[in-house]
Amino acid sequence: MAIVSRTELRAALASLPRARLAHLPTPLDPCPRLSSLLKGPRIWVKRDDCTGLAFGGNKARQHEFILGDALGRGVDVVIQGAASQSNQSRQLAAASARLGIECVLMPRRDALYEQIQGNQLVSRLFGATVVPVDASQSVKKAKEDMALKLRAEGRNPAILGMGAPEALSLAAVAYVGAYLEIVDQLEAIGEEPPSHIYVTSQGSTQAGLHAGVRLLGHSTRIIGINPMDARNEAYEPPAAIAQQCENAAGILGYSLSVSPEEIHNSTDWVGTDYGQPSPAAQKASALLAKTEGILVDPVYSGKGFSGLLGDIEAGCLRPDDRVVFVHTGGLPAIFSYSEASLDR
Ligand SMILES: Cc1ncc(COP(=O)(O)O)c(C=O)c1O
Repeated sequence: MAIVSRTELRAALASLPRARLAHLPTPLDPCPRLSSLLKGPRIWVKRDDCTGLAFGGNKARQHEFILGDALGRGVDVVIQGAASQSNQSRQLAAASARLGIECVLMPRRDALYEQIQGNQLVSRLFGATVVPVDASQSVKKAKEDMALKLRAEGRNPAILGMGAPEALSLAAVAYVGAYLEIVDQLEAIGEEPPSHIYVTSQGSTQAGLHAGVRLLGHSTRIIGINPMDARNEAYEPPAAIAQQCENAAGILGYSLSVSPEEIHNSTDWVGTDYGQPSPAAQKASALLAKTEGILVDPVYSGKGFSGLLGDIEAGCLRPDDRVVFVHTGGLPAIFSYSEASLDR
């Protein structure tokens, strides 16, 4: 049962503070050669790798709401910490430059930290302050300590990403908008909403898509492929993702009750660990590149796409299903994972 119409949902999104950063709507590309080769469902790729900001990706869409809200609260410095090859850090550094606020990036001194390539190279081009965190320390705690220090100096900092539930819920709100975009784009070509959406997600992106489905009363199944599991500090279990759905709906002015059982978020495609290339992702990436001319990365979008391919190979999807793969970007990472990006 629909809680809201598309028109009302669009109006609710339009009423929120927003910083315009992304090139929207992103294209919805059909993949006829891939579908035919797999004798599988019809597949479209929602090209959120083409959001424009600093080589694109899902974070451009999310930062529109996160930073729109932060600017409204007078925030003058944002703090983000994650893996050294973080896409969020790259896109946040660019967004901050564009909006004229200071950005403090706190990359983990992980195995790729010394290599100024890919996301780390791009992040540093936007003038962010870089304060690395030792691999043995909690990035979440380091961010909190940084916020305390900045506050003591009279600044108005905002912690983003891991450890910032409000920002994660605003990130989900952005993907309610993306779901609307997908439905509108399919309608424009005479298609119903998709039967399935596959997406690489640690939580927010999936939560927003799921909230969109639930608010509009659709039956689209959202399948999240997580690039990490409970070993990682930033891992969000299904219960937390369900909570993000409810929070996103709440920000938009609606009440939604979402149970953890509704959330299909798989850790089966992580491979050895977060940030480690997997043979399944290498194979899936090569297939998508060679059949449709679309690149995915080894850490995020490639693993998500390996989950879709795996489900098609396992017979979980029927030939008459209509699947959208939301491409969340991450492409600069292929330059720091150059060997792993090749499927030899
Ligand atoms: C390329 C890419 N895809 C997916 C994700 C996961 O996004 P979310 O946490 O919103 O689910 C990230 C997060 O950093 C990312 O960089």
